[in-house]
Amino acid sequence: MKKPATIEPAKGKLGVLLPGMGAVGTTFIAGCLLARKGIAKPFGSLTQMGTIRLGKRSEEKSPLIKDLVGLPSLDDLVFGGWDLFPANALEAAREADVLSRDHLDAIADELAAIEPMEAVFFPEFVKRLRGEHVKQGDDKMQLAEAVRQDIRDFKAKHGLERCVAVWCGSTEVHREPSECHQSLAAFEEGLRKSDPAISPSQIYAYACLKERVGYANGAPNLTEDLPAIVELAKETQTPVSGKDFKTGQTLMKTILAPGLRARALGVRGWFSTNILGNRDGEVLDDPDSFKSKEVSKLGVLETILQPHLQPELYGDMYHKVRINYYPPRGDQKEGWDNIDIFGWLGYPMQIKIDFLCRDSILAAPLVLDLALFMDLAQRAGMSGIQEWLSFYYKSPAHAPEVYPEHNLFVQQVKLKNTLRWMVGEELITHLGNEYYD
Ligand SMILES: NC(=O)c1ccc[n+]([C@@H]2O[C@H](COP(=O)([O-])OP(=O)(O)OC[C@H]3O[C@@H](n4cnc5c(N)ncnc54)[C@H](O)[C@@H]3O)[C@@H](O)[C@H]2O)c1
Repeated sequence: MKKPATIEPAKGKLGVLLPGMGAVGTTFIAGCLLARKGIAKPFGSLTQMGTIRLGKRSEEKSPLIKDLVGLPSLDDLVFGGWDLFPANALEAAREADVLSRDHLDAIADELAAIEPMEAVFFPEFVKRLRGEHVKQGDDKMQLAEAVRQDIRDFKAKHGLERCVAVWCGSTEVHREPSECHQSLAAFEEGLRKSDPAISPSQIYAYACLKERVGYANGAPNLTEDLPAIVELAKETQTPVSGKDFKTGQTLMKTILAPGLRARALGVRGWFSTNILGNRDGEVLDDPDSFKSKEVSKLGVLETILQPHLQPELYGDMYHKVRINYYPPRGDQKEGWDNIDIFGWLGYPMQIKIDFLCRDSILAAPLVLDLALFMDLAQRAGMSGIQEWLSFYYKSPAHAPEVYPEHNLFVQQVKLKNTLRWMVGEELITHLGNEYYD
């Protein structure tokens, strides 16, 4: 990728479009509105809270990331989206039951004014949902054109030059790529023929990229990594990234596993189970949707621990992931991990994690960071897969010739060095031997 000669300044407002305005989508929008009013802080967001070291440690130069690279302020964001339920963002946020009544009351008018546009939806891709707020068209190309028109109308209505999209919709069923995904020409032909392999999320991604709207994929759907979509992203010089927000249990896994590997501690087994009771949990109760999640969650340990390089430590590892829909918990997920490890001379030990988290509270800041960083990438002329955003994903999109990077700390170095590289600052290697000359 070529180093950006200049980064276009973030002039005017930025539209943030969400296919899917459920628990995560509305918690993100509400959080930005609350932070704007100074009622609550955007904790968990690197773009809002994070700093970045520049130069030598002795220089003590660590500006805020948003100042270094010139990100839009929260006041400059305009929110929109699509959903198969017609509820506005206030009603949807109340239904999701993530935020307190006090918080929602403080921004009720602004939330109520955000009404979802009609969705592209095929029930065979999300079997547990049915909706009536859905676009009709003779073929899938017509649906894609309708989404493109929505984007143009949204931009015109709010006087926007730039938009970015973050998929916050439900997890679609697991599918392997098919013939129509192999090139842009085949995909467009597939749209015209309403090829059954083309999913709603692929139609949104196609429409966004055609409109030069960057597309970030927060679910494990088959979208941004398809050859047809990557080709379109390159052709329209638009960034894509994915997939599946790395929030609760997988975040913990990619924090802990690099530490075990770094200390050459062995792992015999890693059993992960969850209970959650929100609509996402209900969708994931369908085995085909769970399959997409399972694939996304299982890949992580393999690439961090690299059993092919360390067969004695990780060769016989048993890794299991379970998600159980349990309505009483709502959005307050509980994730348990039992990790059977071994150390010196093979003596066994155990680690237990019980993470009592809040699903959408963990995901919302990622939506914000992805929206702002994807917009930055576009302004810097960076198109196609944005691997530097792996930090945010359970299953990072990557070039075909390399394996994905799952280690959170490597991902963080990559993200920060990319920011330094974009603005012409020296990369930080952590060598530091100059302090001892
Ligand atoms: N919360 C987390 O920690 C987390 C982590 C990783 C991934 N995710 C993913 O983020 C997504 C959103 O999670 P959530 O908790 O907000 O779920 P949710 O069920 O509350 O919201 C999803 C919304 O998407 C809508 N939707 C489904 N298909 C659509 C389509 N084709 N077009 C437009 N809207 C559509 C649904 O009607 C629903 O309102 C899920 O795919 C979930 O797996 C969440």
